[in-house]
Amino acid sequence: MFKKKLMAVLLGTALAASMLTGCGAASDTNSDDASTTETVTEAAADDSTGSDSETESDSSGSGKKVGIAMPTKSLERWNRDGSYLEEQFSSKGFEVSLTYSDNKIDQQVKDIEALIADDVDLLVIAAIDGESLSQVLADAKDEGIPVISYDRLIMNTDAVSYYVSFDNYTVGKLQGEFVKEQLDLDNAEGPYNIEFTAGDPADNNAGFFFNGAYDVLKPYIDDGKLVVPSGQTEFDQVATKSWDTATAMTRFQNILGSNYSDGTQLDVALCSNDSTALGVTQAIETDYAGNNSVIITGQDGDEANLANIVDGKQTMTVYKAVANEAVVTLDIGIKLLNGETPDASLIDSAGWDFDCAYDTESYDNNTGKIPSYLLVPTVVTKDNLQKELVDTGYYTMGDDGYPHPTN
Ligand code: GAL
Repeated sequence: MFKKKLMAVLLGTALAASMLTGCGAASDTNSDDASTTETVTEAAADDSTGSDSETESDSSGSGKKVGIAMPTKSLERWNRDGSYLEEQFSSKGFEVSLTYSDNKIDQQVKDIEALIADDVDLLVIAAIDGESLSQVLADAKDEGIPVISYDRLIMNTDAVSYYVSFDNYTVGKLQGEFVKEQLDLDNAEGPYNIEFTAGDPADNNAGFFFNGAYDVLKPYIDDGKLVVPSGQTEFDQVATKSWDTATAMTRFQNILGSNYSDGTQLDVALCSNDSTALGVTQAIETDYAGNNSVIITGQDGDEANLANIVDGKQTMTVYKAVANEAVVTLDIGIKLLNGETPDASLIDSAGWDFDCAYDTESYDNNTGKIPSYLLVPTVVTKDNLQKELVDTGYYTMGDDGYPHPTN
């Protein structure tokens, strides 16, 4: 357990460590995905679930409103993000308005306009399209509403005060290094066949994930130990609009049909996240003639993918404890609303029991470098799933033998 580890460095991004402790009780979110707004007002509750930072004395959110804009409910993790954020802010007495915009860009603009019109004091936004919010956030700035860019960097606007996320480049790097180790690429002769599936081009994270993985594997592609039979190695060729499972499946069925129907062996399917990995796994199950077990990567710890990991269909996922991402977001929000300027010292003073880095170099949204708090992702496989996900309290192991999220 890492307590109060401060890694305040002006980073080039290179963090890879595993650690975490559980937090955050369950809260219910309904599953339909039409644009939804939930408003929660709770008097300053006991904060057993909130952060225990030293800023407690001046941290009451009572009388303050926070607007939280999430992309969609159809991508599993955002349901967890929404409820952890709601829990953290309402535990400090904030009135919380939580919106989900059905992965529709114009709907999210409307939802944020409504939050501004509702006089929120703070905006926390996970953008569907990082390039589509400049206008509405200019309005937020005019109203003096600080904006925290949550998980995905919002581009082309100086209305963003801070960015909270995981170290996105390292997420990809962990996937690439996992493949390198599994195939023992430094010693093995190869060649091995690999195909890539990346994320939504509108999501600023997607490029970091893909580059993180590709940069590890490129030397082996260059020397022929790794081969990409489809020839698709550019981000635009392997991207998946909206991180959509069905889109990823169809593309992969086409790749298998065009490049593997002659008995060519597929060794690796490097997928940037779990929703795309689910589609790729389905395509391999239905359209791949080979009987070797294909290394499949993922990210997020989605329920269906963890079940596939237990069943040996998917090989790993990069888990990101979004419960902690919510804690960091709350503490930055409280500082901002107290008129303070959070910096590296927050990492020490906040009393977080997880690692976080302060980075003022890596994330430029075209209006300047955005001060960022970056949490640490963890590799999860069948072997360490119990320790990393269940023992930490983020998941419970069901009677069905599969892990289920606790929130
Ligand atoms: C990314 C996020 C990932 C993944 C993906 C699809 O921005 O960082 O965790 O969930 O969106 O939702």
